[in-house]
Amino acid sequence: MAGVQIVARPPALYGYCAACHGANGAGGIHFPDGAVSADLRPAALEQPPHPYTLALLERAISTGIDNDGKPLDPVMPRWKLSHRDLRDVALYVLSLK
Ligand code: HEC
Repeated sequence: MAGVQIVARPPALYGYCAACHGANGAGGIHFPDGAVSADLRPAALEQPPHPYTLALLERAISTGIDNDGKPLDPVMPRWKLSHRDLRDVALYVLSLK
C-alpha cells in the first residue's frame, strides 16, 4: 500500500515538502519572487486538461517541469532522489486528501 510505504520512509522528505506546502499539502505560502507554493491536494492536481499522474508528479518533483510541460518557479526545488524515494514521495502526494 503506497501510503503506508512512504510513512515508513525517513520523515525528512515529508518535512521539507511540508515546510512550503504545509502538512496537509494545501500550499498557499507566498515567496518574495512572487511564487506561491502549490496546492498538492487532489482537487488541485486533478485539474484538466493535464491532470497529474504518478509519472507527471515524479517529473515535477525531480525536474521542475509541471503537468503542462512548463518549468515551475525556481523556488520549488528540483529534488535529487533515488527512483524509489521519488516514487514514494510522488505516491505520498497522491495520497493527500
Ligand atoms: C522551498 C519551498 C518548497 C519546497 C521545500 C517544496 N516545494 Fe513544491 N513548490 C513550491 C512552489 C513555490 C511551487 C509553485 C511553483 C510555481 O508556481 O511555478 C511548488 C510546486 C510544486 C508542485 C507542482 C504543482 C502544480 O500544481 O503544478 C509539486 C508537485 C510540488 N511542488 C511538490 C513538492 C514536493 C513533493 C516537495 C518535497 C519533496 C516540495 N514540493 C517541496 C515550493 C516548494
